[in-house]
Amino acid sequence: MEFKKEFIEDYKELLGDELEVFLDYLRRPLRKSIRINTIKKPVKEMLPRIEGWKPKAIPWCAEGFYVEARGVGNEPGHCLGHYYVQEAASMIPPVVLEPEGVVLDMCASPGSKTTQLATYDCVVFANDRVRRMAPLQHNVQRCGATNVILTRQDGTRYHSNFLFDRVLVDAPCTGVGAIRKKYEIARMWSRRAINQLVSTQKRLITRGFNLLKPGGILVYSTCTLSPKENEGVVDYLLRSHDAELEEIALPIKRSEPVLEWRGENYHSSISKCLRLYPQDNDTEGFFVAKVMKVG
Ligand SMILES: C[S@@+](CC[C@H](N)C(=O)[O-])C[C@H]1O[C@@H](n2cnc3c(N)ncnc32)[C@H](O)[C@@H]1O
Repeated sequence: MEFKKEFIEDYKELLGDELEVFLDYLRRPLRKSIRINTIKKPVKEMLPRIEGWKPKAIPWCAEGFYVEARGVGNEPGHCLGHYYVQEAASMIPPVVLEPEGVVLDMCASPGSKTTQLATYDCVVFANDRVRRMAPLQHNVQRCGATNVILTRQDGTRYHSNFLFDRVLVDAPCTGVGAIRKKYEIARMWSRRAINQLVSTQKRLITRGFNLLKPGGILVYSTCTLSPKENEGVVDYLLRSHDAELEEIALPIKRSEPVLEWRGENYHSSISKCLRLYPQDNDTEGFFVAKVMKVG
């Protein structure tokens, strides 16, 4: 697997001596993991049924398990919505959000996090853009998530007559953390793509924050690792709004968030964010920020 020269330059600057380990992990296939859908069956009832898959608990998500099996997405249990095939790091944002009341999932398709949010005692507004509604609708139905309302709006201009208790912005991104799943992402990667996405990400996080009740919580997450798309976007929000970052207490190995990148200094509280390289926990790469609306 080859990487572009600029990609190597960026990650050499970020990781120094750890670059080779990082590239090595990007070349390894991901461990298979599932999240048991507790809307349909409790974990203790499901575990004996999947014993043959040698389930191993994922420490940061009580319903998440690594499994040793092929074709779990083709099993009747999948069709029945007994579980969702979901990458272990992707289970983090809903856990961090602590869903309650009315929740907006602004970029929801195909619905792994929507269906996870729906397992909590809350109502979920799951939004995405036009062409992405079909997989979202299918997964919500498959999982029997009757507390989900689908909306189809441009999240950057999302209209609502009321404010939300919680907002999840699982933003579109360059997806570097997901290269292990799809090598195509490495081929498509460019600094230009990062710059284009940053503008959308800033508008999404701003709109999401403005739709939040005072005292409410917003989680911003991506499956990429470029500082501009992560720490840079959160820094932008902190500097322009009454937002404060909260600590993320999870049993997980984490890397230091980036506080300075190519001449830009980010807010010191950004050290509370979660930056996960694939080599930290043998997962996808991920970034998660937990923001509180002051007031
Ligand atoms: C990282 S994916 C979301 C994955 C999803 N949260 C999950 O866990 O299954 C990002 C999503 O953002 C959506 N998106 C991109 N631009 C958007 C916009 N302006 N408004 C709403 N959604 C947008 C994409 O269609 C895509 O489905």
